Amino acid sequence: MRTIIHLSDLHFGRNEPSVIKAIIKTVKAVKPDVLIVSGDLTQRAKAEEFKQAKDFLNGFNIKKIVIPGNHDIPLFNPLKRLVNPFKNYKKYISKNLEPVYFDKELRIIGVNTARKTKITRGKISSEQAQLIKEYFADAGDAVRIVVAHHPFDLPEGFSSRKMVIGAKNVIKEIVDAKVDLILGGHMHISHTGSIADRYKVDGKAALVVQASTVSKRSRGEVPTFNVIKTDLKKITLTRYVFKQKEFKKDLEEVFQLEPAQWVK
Ligand SMILES: [Fe+2]
Ligand SMILES: [Fe+2]
Repeated sequence: MRTIIHLSDLHFGRNEPSVIKAIIKTVKAVKPDVLIVSGDLTQRAKAEEFKQAKDFLNGFNIKKIVIPGNHDIPLFNPLKRLVNPFKNYKKYISKNLEPVYFDKELRIIGVNTARKTKITRGKISSEQAQLIKEYFADAGDAVRIVVAHHPFDLPEGFSSRKMVIGAKNVIKEIVDAKVDLILGGHMHISHTGSIADRYKVDGKAALVVQASTVSKRSRGEVPTFNVIKTDLKKITLTRYVFKQKEFKKDLEEVFQLEPAQWVK
């Protein structure tokens, strides 16, 4: 069994120190095997915001998979945005925008969907889909996880314009790669779904887990993040929500693999 903490949309520059303190406390108590941050580490991609994000991440002696989001590219400075959009991200967080992690039970790939030519939306390309397929080609029984900032699925009622551009075109590769979980953020809404809910899927349908934000930029939700426990045939997702200065367990969902679909 493996334990993952999935945080998203930290938005340093627009967060509450008491929430950050409570996250640190919970992460240290849960002791995950991997800490995942699915983008938007900062509010405006400023050096001082990235420094805060860096200090926060360096505080954990845990394997991490961190990817950028659209807010990690400068928005108001066209020169910086177009010439070197990930300059500060690379300087303070990592030169690698698409990190991977693997052990005997888990295989994780981060995919950078933030684009300098899109303001808030993001894109996944066919080249990235090919990389996903190659990365999982010899993954065996390991649970296969893709991390992307922009969403593949959202609650009913959200139009396809809110999804990552290119999602429909790469579903075949995602299915061929037998991906189990797609983790995302960006919309600041907690959500669990299946790619089969929104796309034509012929094969294994990955679960989509969206983490909300832990920043002040919430859309009515209190700061929330996910703890995910993976077994070969079972995934348990627990949302932790901020209540009375602490993160407490909230909704729990269990999914079983039977035989090629994740069923709640
Ligand atoms: Fe965000
Ligand atoms: Fe975003």
